Amino acid sequence: MTIADDPDRAPARSHLYAMGLTREDMRRPTVGIASTWTGTMPCNLTHRELAAHVAEGVRRAGGLPMEFNTIAVSDNLTMGTPGMRASLVSREVIADSIELMGRAHQFDALVCIVGCDKTVPAGIMALSRLDVPSVVLYSGSMMPGRWRDRDVTIQDMWEALGERAVGRLDQDEVDDLARHACPGPGTCAAQYTANTMGGVADFLGLAPFGVGDIPAVAETKPAAARRVGEIVMDALARDARPSRILTPNAMHNAIVSVAAMGGSTNAVLHLLAIAREAGLPLRIDEIGEICRKVPIITGLKPGGPHTAADLWRAGGTALVVRRLLEAGLLRENVTLVDGRTLADVAAGASEASGQTTVKTVAAPAKPPGALAILRGSLAPDGCVLKLGGRADFRREGPARVFDSEEECFAAIQSGAVVAGDVVIVRYEGPAGGPGMREMLSITGALVGQGLGDSVALVTDGRFSGVSHGLVIGHVAPEAFKGGPIALVRDGDTVAVDTANATLDLLVDEDELAARRAAWRPLERPVERGVLAKYVASVGSASDGATTI
Ligand code: FES
Repeated sequence: MTIADDPDRAPARSHLYAMGLTREDMRRPTVGIASTWTGTMPCNLTHRELAAHVAEGVRRAGGLPMEFNTIAVSDNLTMGTPGMRASLVSREVIADSIELMGRAHQFDALVCIVGCDKTVPAGIMALSRLDVPSVVLYSGSMMPGRWRDRDVTIQDMWEALGERAVGRLDQDEVDDLARHACPGPGTCAAQYTANTMGGVADFLGLAPFGVGDIPAVAETKPAAARRVGEIVMDALARDARPSRILTPNAMHNAIVSVAAMGGSTNAVLHLLAIAREAGLPLRIDEIGEICRKVPIITGLKPGGPHTAADLWRAGGTALVVRRLLEAGLLRENVTLVDGRTLADVAAGASEASGQTTVKTVAAPAKPPGALAILRGSLAPDGCVLKLGGRADFRREGPARVFDSEEECFAAIQSGAVVAGDVVIVRYEGPAGGPGMREMLSITGALVGQGLGDSVALVTDGRFSGVSHGLVIGHVAPEAFKGGPIALVRDGDTVAVDTANATLDLLVDEDELAARRAAWRPLERPVERGVLAKYVASVGSASDGATTI
């Protein structure tokens, strides 16, 4: 019996009357609208307006919308600071928050409005746990900025710090770029983590194609949000629950989307976490295997010249579906939340004449290999290389070891890291960091100094989607848990071999055994609060760094 008619729920009804609802309203299906709005970042700044539009669509379709919001942590605003430790932790907090609201209020259906990096996987994870008919609404990318007659994004901003270090830009120029790089609300403006995960939401089938890729400030976004309100009511009628949508085929397609659009290394972490929530048996190596077969067909930054707005103008993710279906790279036996098939989506895709952003599988932007999963004596449980469509290579170099992002950044800025070095940044893993910080200050400095391809960076932390260069992250087990990365010393030889998918520490067994016997974990003073809870419960990056 519902709140509207249960005699014992009269006290609950009194609170609903207090909100201006009628008894008739209380008989409508309730649709929770979870927004990850915070007023602390541009990424999610439009969510309150979008939530109002979704609510209007829900009402139009006969439902009772109930809005609530969660926290969110901006990766960019906290990057390179101790605050960055909160970012990955926030994924769990957001997922838990949405789950708790869903359990408490027993919504009949849910819409989850997501934007900044962690909010997308967090929303999907929560919807999977609640398993009521649900739609993800990705709030959309920021437009690129213009500076010195070219499109710029937050990527240019971070690399400008490296250019300043070698004298190519002065501080006035860096500040001028900062005023132009981010022209308004929306997520970071290319194929960085947020847009990668927005695409994942589409290809998983939880977000309707043609909505998420509309930029945040585009005038068609509000109407699309209203449509989402209607779609969720339709999904409720069809009982389109996440458990029917999040299947192995859907996960396969989501991985293909990351591979085909040159996505962020963070997608590996988030796909594994989503799979875990959905009960799908995804191994980290499967992501590498799919990336080996799927060429990069979009020329999106950071690996190419185009922005997310270019992708939208070209035809959006629906056009990518058409290309991938034509090449037989997607599994068609999937359920999409709006009731269409992938063939419907492909047939409805419109391609802008003369567009150059979305290529074909036969003539791609880059060969297969967006990401590679490596294993070996330095990463027995796996790690992620942003291969970016490079040809296979083998690289050996001397290790330069740092126990934190800050130490490493200072060394690079002082010129102490040189071409050929293999920089090791450890104790930055999920538990050791804690929070697995992104190494954007380091990768930005390396690229800005022209060392992006000549210095390899190996870490048990992770990378921003903006990062590029020769970067290997998510090394597992992490140093804090006694992984071999904790045993590396300055001058040891480290070997990366992409053809054999290996990352090895070339130090003999006896020496390593002696080092292991003498090893003690580097403790960071995290004794209380959310970070202490996180350290106690977080798992390995090779399993998605979840807390369940
Ligand atoms: Fe929020 Fe990039 S920091 S999307």
